[in-house]
Amino acid sequence: MSKDAFYLFANWKMYLDHAESVALAKELKQQMTQLAASMRVAVFPSMLAMTAVEHVLQGTSIALGAQNIHWVDKGGYTGEVSGAMCKAVGCTYALVGHSERRHVFHETNQEVRKKIDSLLALGMTPVLCVGETLHEREKNVTEEVVETQLRSAFEGIAWPAGQELFIAYEPVWAVSTGEACDPQEAQRVSSRIYDLVEKLVPSVTPIVLYGGSVRPENVGQYCAQQHISGVLVGGAATKITTWMDIVRAIQL
Ligand code: PGA
Repeated sequence: MSKDAFYLFANWKMYLDHAESVALAKELKQQMTQLAASMRVAVFPSMLAMTAVEHVLQGTSIALGAQNIHWVDKGGYTGEVSGAMCKAVGCTYALVGHSERRHVFHETNQEVRKKIDSLLALGMTPVLCVGETLHEREKNVTEEVVETQLRSAFEGIAWPAGQELFIAYEPVWAVSTGEACDPQEAQRVSSRIYDLVEKLVPSVTPIVLYGGSVRPENVGQYCAQQHISGVLVGGAATKITTWMDIVRAIQL
């Protein structure tokens, strides 16, 4: 696998309101000159702030993504926003199956697949999140859990030519807890993910990211792992100071 690019994806979750999202996007835009050309950056703001953030980031290389989408383009689905609607305001990416969607909102593997299918039909790029709970890790079934998530997401899928394939390995117990996964262990699971996805979707080279309590102090260790091509960062990407510390640590 090549590491021609390193991906820094920022999941702002429900941390920032409209004004805070716009302020952070403006600061990011100002700091753009410090980014190496090989660094690919995307932000995933709240739906409410999407258009305003898009407006600020227009003309920069920072891409835009949705934290979640509904698979039907339009219809009677109160409270939902479709991939088509996100695409129309400039989103190129969407997170799918984030652990908070799976475990707080009980999103199923079947729904995850429908979202992936819908994003591919729209020409958008899904970023599939997979990972085990603490209970599953303690029962020693991490690989089985991740394999089930990957199989139901990709088995038999017709992957469009030229479409990138992202998976974020995010152990549930490491997300928002401050307890990041040991980098060697993240590498071990990521290489399993890489191998399985290569078999499930032979036409594309998978891009595996690590997510879960990434900080300026540990990001360099994830970058150094063979099968980790980037990071999906939550809390630490919601402040310009820690964001730029992460950028500097990656670029070292
Ligand atoms: P965290 O979140 O960096 O705050 O742990 C990661 C994520 O949810 O993608």
